Amino acid sequence: MFTKQTYINRRQTLKEKVGSGIILIFGHNDAPANYPANAYKFRQDSSFLYYFGQQRDGLVGVVDIDNDCEYLIGDDIDIEDIIWTGFVPSVHDLAEEVGVAHSAPMAQLAKLIEGRPEVHYLPPCRHDLMIQIGDLLGIHPLQVRDKASLRLIKAVVDMRAVKTTEEIEEIERAMAIGYKMHTTAMKACRPGVTEKYIGGLLAGIAESYGCKESFLTILTMHGEIFHGDPSLRPLEAGRLMLCDAGAETVNNYCSDNTRVTPISGKFSPRQRDIYSIVEACHDLVIDRACPGKKWMDMHLDVCRLMTDRLKDLGLMKGNTDDAVEAGAHAMFLQHGLGHMMGMDVHDMEGLGQVYVGFDDEVRPSTQFGTNCLRCGRRLQPGFVMTDEPGIYFIPALIDKWKAEGMHRDFLCYDKIEEYRDFGGIRLEDDILITDNGCRVLGEQIIPYHIDDVEAFIS
Ligand code: GLY
Ligand code: MN
Repeated sequence: MFTKQTYINRRQTLKEKVGSGIILIFGHNDAPANYPANAYKFRQDSSFLYYFGQQRDGLVGVVDIDNDCEYLIGDDIDIEDIIWTGFVPSVHDLAEEVGVAHSAPMAQLAKLIEGRPEVHYLPPCRHDLMIQIGDLLGIHPLQVRDKASLRLIKAVVDMRAVKTTEEIEEIERAMAIGYKMHTTAMKACRPGVTEKYIGGLLAGIAESYGCKESFLTILTMHGEIFHGDPSLRPLEAGRLMLCDAGAETVNNYCSDNTRVTPISGKFSPRQRDIYSIVEACHDLVIDRACPGKKWMDMHLDVCRLMTDRLKDLGLMKGNTDDAVEAGAHAMFLQHGLGHMMGMDVHDMEGLGQVYVGFDDEVRPSTQFGTNCLRCGRRLQPGFVMTDEPGIYFIPALIDKWKAEGMHRDFLCYDKIEEYRDFGGIRLEDDILITDNGCRVLGEQIIPYHIDDVEAFIS
């Protein structure tokens, strides 16, 4: 938790940005896994954390702009709960800790908003909150997301997108744990060890530091499957292990890195060829990302460099600009270059990607591949972005596009067929946009240059 003043200041800025009405920021409720008393590990809503800082379930933060007062709403627990959970601070004490003057039980919430024409709330991602908000405001639960306050969404995005020094320090703490997770995976990677075993080591490292994984770890010999879960398959000599994982600190700030390790200890010449293209694309971002640069243009710069280098290998042909304009490169890079990162590993995605990553100047693309870019707008100092180019050989996509004759002027299908069992390579680091460029976050950078990787795991 940050200092009381941080939360007071954030709510003050939010008040000024929204201007009028009453703001409700809903915290999360416990979510049952298979029966009510066996819940998923609690994860608080990130915007609630940002403005009200408290980790307890069943809370709602209220900022009444019109009457200039704030409440923390929630029910205190009684002896029936205390015998199971031990002491839990009162809602009054939780409110006081983050500089909120008033607290009240949940039954009071309806009274606070009675007759108020402007009730602002954020779109919830959890279904129980859709029901709770729907019931409170008399809206069908399925319409709750659509009726959320655009003014509030935009104000929250404006604030959360630009990270302060204390937030960057927290992200750096996540990076340090992420470094231990990734370097452990690289060292453990050898033929015969299962993907799940290494995935379990990573989860254990995060937990042992009081953290957790910032999302379900992706760890697979099938790097071409973007969100491939670790399986019980043993790692095979000659293949690559792709590991995309990160830590989330006790204060819920995240890291997100991807590394690719040769299971035999050395990259084959063909693996080196593809890896070095991804490496060059990754490094291009570090060279060029700066305030004012559109992230959409950064993505397209990477696509052009990738196309040039794939032409050198005989996998693509034709004019590079035309190929990228047509979207032919999406045979190899089917996702976006990177996303914002903060308290959510895909930061604020639940608020609506179009409000987070786009604006009037830069609209989302509808073209296959680039339509997965989660952010396109101009970068600002304080933005934290992931830099995660990749090259993937997806047999189902090769077959489909080949059968349809897609981009025949740019794609060399005979050569591509030679790579159909290759898998995929992605490299991912997290960058902070600074006043005149960017900085890779993390005191120690997980090895990624080919010779460094081979030396590190030898
Ligand atoms: N690192 C996982 C993702 O960005 O989806
Ligand atoms: Mn990512």
